[in-house]
Amino acid sequence: MAENRSISFIGPGVMAEAMIVGLIRNHLESPENLIACGPRHERLEELSNQYQIGFNTDNREGVKNARVVVLSVKPQRMDRVLSGLQNAVPLDALILSIVAGATIEKISSILCHHNIVRSMPNTPAQIGEGITVWTASSEVSGNQKEEARCILSALGDEIYVEEESYLDMATALSGTGPAYIFLFMEAMVDAGVHLGFPRRIAEALVAKTVRGSVDYYTKREDPVHLARLRNEVTSPGGTSAAAIYYLEKAGFRTAISRAIWAAYERSRELGKGGRTHAPDRSAENGE
Ligand SMILES: NC(=O)c1ccc[n+]([C@@H]2O[C@H](COP(=O)([O-])OP(=O)(O)OC[C@H]3O[C@@H](n4cnc5c(N)ncnc54)[C@H](OP(=O)(O)O)[C@@H]3O)[C@@H](O)[C@H]2O)c1
Repeated sequence: MAENRSISFIGPGVMAEAMIVGLIRNHLESPENLIACGPRHERLEELSNQYQIGFNTDNREGVKNARVVVLSVKPQRMDRVLSGLQNAVPLDALILSIVAGATIEKISSILCHHNIVRSMPNTPAQIGEGITVWTASSEVSGNQKEEARCILSALGDEIYVEEESYLDMATALSGTGPAYIFLFMEAMVDAGVHLGFPRRIAEALVAKTVRGSVDYYTKREDPVHLARLRNEVTSPGGTSAAAIYYLEKAGFRTAISRAIWAAYERSRELGKGGRTHAPDRSAENGE
């Protein structure tokens, strides 16, 4: 990244900080070209002191000389922030949004700007272990796509998709995914405590079992279907078979599938500026 124009972060929260850390640590951008913009002076000063980056409490001023503007505010703040930035972003700059539910069309129409990347990272991005799905408007140049890829790689792995519709799917699967995993792990830990383990030991057993299982799946030379790995640990009449019988009987697989579908619908609803609270429709559906 050669130019001296800035990468300006609108919304100096945890995700922006993760990007800043990744960009500096991986020598992808020098700190003096990074600018954090937000309303709270103390937070900006904290980031500036820690990483030697620039800051501005005025979003419009902060993007004046930007070549990339990263939008990293909470979804509820997005409308106000976009309106405030109208016609302020240099026409040739790239807008890179990580804000859940904010569509390219919405960002483009409010900002009067066309070079837009929309992305969906996830929580492990905060330690550089995330996975981000992203797409770009047709006006984004090849160089800008490479720049977006580079910035997003500061958060972990990234996958480019042609169609924006994949972003709502990614929101439901990988964006919201850590919530499912943490709930699953929490339930396992509680079950371990119920069996009689001290919580500390149950937590260690569960965390290592999850991490080891993921590595066992992803670090193989020849990819295998997950069902085959599950079969490997399911001996006839054994403990896994007994446990899986109960999980299937309780509708484990269906519950996961429906939960992810509900998250997908919710993401689409939020993208259309829908209700702020999703109702539980199970009663209407006779469930
Ligand atoms: N966290 C995740 O794991 C995750 C995963 C996927 C996607 N995302 C997306 O990433 C975005 C940021 O999430 P986050 O977790 O980093 O949130 P966060 O920590 O709350 O950061 C948001 C930041 O925006 C600042 N802000 C508020 N109003 C502003 C304004 N008018 N102008 C500029 N900045 C303003 C806030 O400042 P104050 O603190 O002073 O209010 C805060 O520093 C969200 O849209 C979310 O959908 C997050």
